[in-house]
Amino acid sequence: MIVRGEGAYLVDQLGKRYLDGNSSIWTNIHGHGHPAIISAIQGQAATLAHSSALGFGNEPAAELAAALVGCFPKETLTKVFYTDDGSTAIECALRLALQYWEMEGQPERASFAAFDSAYHGDTMGAAALGGIATFHKRVSKLGVPVCHVKDLTHLIGLPPEEVSKLAAVVIEPLIQGAAGMRLWPKGMLSELRAWCDEHGVFLILDEVMTGFGRTGKMFACQHEEVIPDFIALAKGLTGGTLPLAATLTTQRVFDAFLSRPGEDRTFYYGHSYCGNPLGCTAALASLQIFEEEAVLAKLTNKMEVLGSLLREWQNADRRVRDVRQCGFIAGIDIGDPSGAAFSSGDKFGAQVCLAARAHGLLTRPVNDTLVLMLPLCADLDDIRLAVAALQAGLRDVVPVE
Ligand SMILES: Cc1ncc(COP(=O)(O)O)c(C=O)c1O
Repeated sequence: MIVRGEGAYLVDQLGKRYLDGNSSIWTNIHGHGHPAIISAIQGQAATLAHSSALGFGNEPAAELAAALVGCFPKETLTKVFYTDDGSTAIECALRLALQYWEMEGQPERASFAAFDSAYHGDTMGAAALGGIATFHKRVSKLGVPVCHVKDLTHLIGLPPEEVSKLAAVVIEPLIQGAAGMRLWPKGMLSELRAWCDEHGVFLILDEVMTGFGRTGKMFACQHEEVIPDFIALAKGLTGGTLPLAATLTTQRVFDAFLSRPGEDRTFYYGHSYCGNPLGCTAALASLQIFEEEAVLAKLTNKMEVLGSLLREWQNADRRVRDVRQCGFIAGIDIGDPSGAAFSSGDKFGAQVCLAARAHGLLTRPVNDTLVLMLPLCADLDDIRLAVAALQAGLRDVVPVE
């Protein structure tokens, strides 16, 4: 049982401290209990904890929408729709895209292209996009129609009749998280944007994991100067304190939903807690911390130190089969002492992460890929502790002969 959070650390009911090695499933940004976020939430709770977004606005939601829009070049992504989590942020983008094409007289554009090994969430539509059988096989016949593609080359090779039915392509930009921190080739995202433009297909970016600094820039799409038609944000939006998500889109999409007399173009989609003032206040405080504490500037050195420690480990240890890093996110593939992969089902990744707890680190693997995704506030000592704890965990579970 976790009873307390202190900066980059979590404390259990026995008083043992652990470094939060996966940022509490990729959510925490500035550490647990950041005083600025706590006091913002407390102040807002005393003023207005919640009121419905059906027909009404609230100040934190309006201010946050403006702040999020301000993160992108002027007049690109200008509209914000709030939901509760990553899955519903994706669900919202899918529904907006489908309704857009239906209202614009192209109802045949009713399917989506998504990539093998993708993970976009667990609601029906988001799950249908998924490319990891473990998560989706039991609902694979439900949800939206999806054309699963291996990579960009596969997408480009789709027959024209298939392409003309696409409402949008959905992708985790730069790095697929649940696939085991799998990197896309450099330049792929901007090529994908160009392909979508050429074929009149929307581009939906799932930045649920990559958003808010994880990749070294505020958003992954900024590495390739790509502007999507929709972007889904969640997890780190509130600094990892409260469930809140946002789907940003363009004026063009927004305008299509404006009813003319006698028409009904309403977007019938919403959740009770859409635009929750507490979540929005926490998100505003988190964005302010990015500025006041120069979080991204300080991250450069941390990413370098993380990278060099992992490279050193890989060079010295045959059990480290591969290391992938994207900003402050790392995936470490482990194998046996000869360097061969473990047979699937042995769950060595899970065993190593369990063993790492005794060395002061909490994290979860993806199969035999160890994942490190520290809160951005982690300092150089924390980074060293994280890598040392994984090394010790590996030594405990897979001794070198
Ligand atoms: C890329 C991506 N998209 C969507 C989701 C779903 O987010 P949530 O669990 O908040 O619904 C996740 C969760 O891990 C994710 O990594």
